[in-house]
Amino acid sequence: MVRFLFFAFLFFLLTHKKIIEKDISDYCIEQFELMLKQQTHPSDTAAVIIEPVLGEGGYVPAPLDFLPRLKEICQKNGILLIFDEVQCGYGRTGKMFAFEHYGVVPDIMVLAKGIASGLPISAVITRSELTK
Ligand SMILES: Cc1ncc(COP(=O)(O)O)c(C=O)c1O
Repeated sequence: MVRFLFFAFLFFLLTHKKIIEKDISDYCIEQFELMLKQQTHPSDTAAVIIEPVLGEGGYVPAPLDFLPRLKEICQKNGILLIFDEVQCGYGRTGKMFAFEHYGVVPDIMVLAKGIASGLPISAVITRSELTK
């Protein structure tokens, strides 16, 4: 079963001036922790997948503290963290991969688009121990 959470949508800051970046991260992290309590126990949760920079609905980077906090919870609970860098990866954010802006390395990363300049090629990249 797939469950959805709010993306920490930084551009709310533009319209809701009283909200600060940390509030958005706090809210989304709280919702994630609540989900792990109420809807899907960590032992039943295989992975979290997120785009470091949202690609549809505007190009919206996650707040800088959000991905490290997400990684911490995932690591603590044995949940894999997957970054979808199909749109934001391969040099499109000024670094090779968007996650490099956050100092967080995912367990798995998916790539496409930029790696082949229009050819229908994709890649799933992970640590070797996860493939055994
Ligand atoms: C962010 C993102 N992830 C993944 C995909 C690939 O989706 P699908 O496998 O359904 O083609 C896309 C396609 O545009 C995308 O924009």
